[in-house]
Amino acid sequence: MVNSWSSSRVDLLLDLRGPRRSGLESALREAIRGGRLAAGTLLPSTRGLARELGLARGTVVAAYDQLATEGYLTVRPGSGTRVAEVPPGPDLTDTSGTSREPLYDLRPGCPDVSAFPARAWLAATRRVLGRHAVGRGDPQGTPELRAALCDYLGRTRGVRATPAQVVVTSGYYQGLVLLSRVLSSCGVGVAAFEDPGHSVYRDAVRRAGLTVVPLPVDAHGARVDALPSDAGAAFLTPAHQYPMGVPLHPARRQAACAWARATGGILVEDDYDGEFRYDRQPVGALQGMAPEHVVYGGTVSKTLGPGLRLGWLVLPPWLVPAVVRAKEEADFYTETLSQLVLADLIATHAYDRHVRAARLRYRRRRELLAFRFPLEGVPAGLSALFLMPEGEAEVLSACSRRGLALRGLTELHHDPAGRSQGLLIGFAAPSESDYATALPLLTEVIGGRRVGGGRR
Ligand SMILES: Cc1ncc(COP(=O)(O)O)c(C=O)c1O
Repeated sequence: MVNSWSSSRVDLLLDLRGPRRSGLESALREAIRGGRLAAGTLLPSTRGLARELGLARGTVVAAYDQLATEGYLTVRPGSGTRVAEVPPGPDLTDTSGTSREPLYDLRPGCPDVSAFPARAWLAATRRVLGRHAVGRGDPQGTPELRAALCDYLGRTRGVRATPAQVVVTSGYYQGLVLLSRVLSSCGVGVAAFEDPGHSVYRDAVRRAGLTVVPLPVDAHGARVDALPSDAGAAFLTPAHQYPMGVPLHPARRQAACAWARATGGILVEDDYDGEFRYDRQPVGALQGMAPEHVVYGGTVSKTLGPGLRLGWLVLPPWLVPAVVRAKEEADFYTETLSQLVLADLIATHAYDRHVRAARLRYRRRRELLAFRFPLEGVPAGLSALFLMPEGEAEVLSACSRRGLALRGLTELHHDPAGRSQGLLIGFAAPSESDYATALPLLTEVIGGRRVGGGRR
């Protein structure tokens, strides 16, 4: 019921809903929060307002009293009841500024979570709950998962480690942050980060206290010959450079390890999608070449889903205690049940089976994409780069108008001015049918654009 309240003091429309007293309270509260009743406004007397609204006077007294207690009104004997100074709150009903969910999400980063191995996960959960009580966890990660990871990473990625070197984290992101803080506290000041590279991770390294310098990338991956002499760490994506899509050349892998040995610098290997290579066996981890100089980071974000927030670091032994301490200070430990479930999935090889099936699906999807667009890099991962000489922003907004969400290359450069433009197309996340619809749409939008490598 909308009541027009007009007194000698103020005119106001009050939308009275619900029980009388709480309805009046909410209507006044909303009017004050929304700014329709400005600070300092003198409200009608309780008797006057009760008469105008057809309410009992006691109802108005109780409502004023409640709002005065909450700080919306000030009551001064002799000078009436006034609206207090209240900072305007956000209008939660205004959705004009919020972006629509895209119809087809081709942003890089997410696997097809509709293919999550729910049955295997539930069966493993049942087994785990039969064996373990969900008591306190270990800041380093459950021994079961650390052991399972050593086995899995050894056989699939060539990582050389014992469970004592593994720290389980809430996604690779947390591992990166904790490690960067520890390196900073150990006296590392400068860190090289691939350019282009993942801006979110780069910013996280910077926020953790390191000075980040760009490490250029070319057709052979990171230019490790350009590692500055004062850098104490280098953050790399050796198996599949993000976002250019090339593996680090064998000679550069050697050179990176030689740099680490000669300078004592730490190589941080982000193996975010190492399982997904479609034209050959995946290239083994850099860590296997120099375990004492490389920190290896991994995650289930691309294999199972980013929502699980499960990742890990494999560290040279001397770094373990400090990283475990940092983990404990950050959040005690990562949630235990999902660690045990993952350990079970790995031990029973259900994880391998899931990754194998996903690899086949994503391989076909990338082929479909490569059939329509010339893509950079090797057939791998969950996203691929399409370079454009210009017009990235216009294409992104044309895509958005058609319900397609993608990521532009520009935002991944340390300094985007004059750098190459392109679209990073995530081909794994949409369902099969959405992907089939999205591809022709994308072709229509990109259609007549001239293709060519801009400057990197
Ligand atoms: C380059 C890169 N590294 C690592 C990750 C995984 O991060 P997290 O385990 O924090 O989800 C991603 C995920 O999108 C990524 O794109």
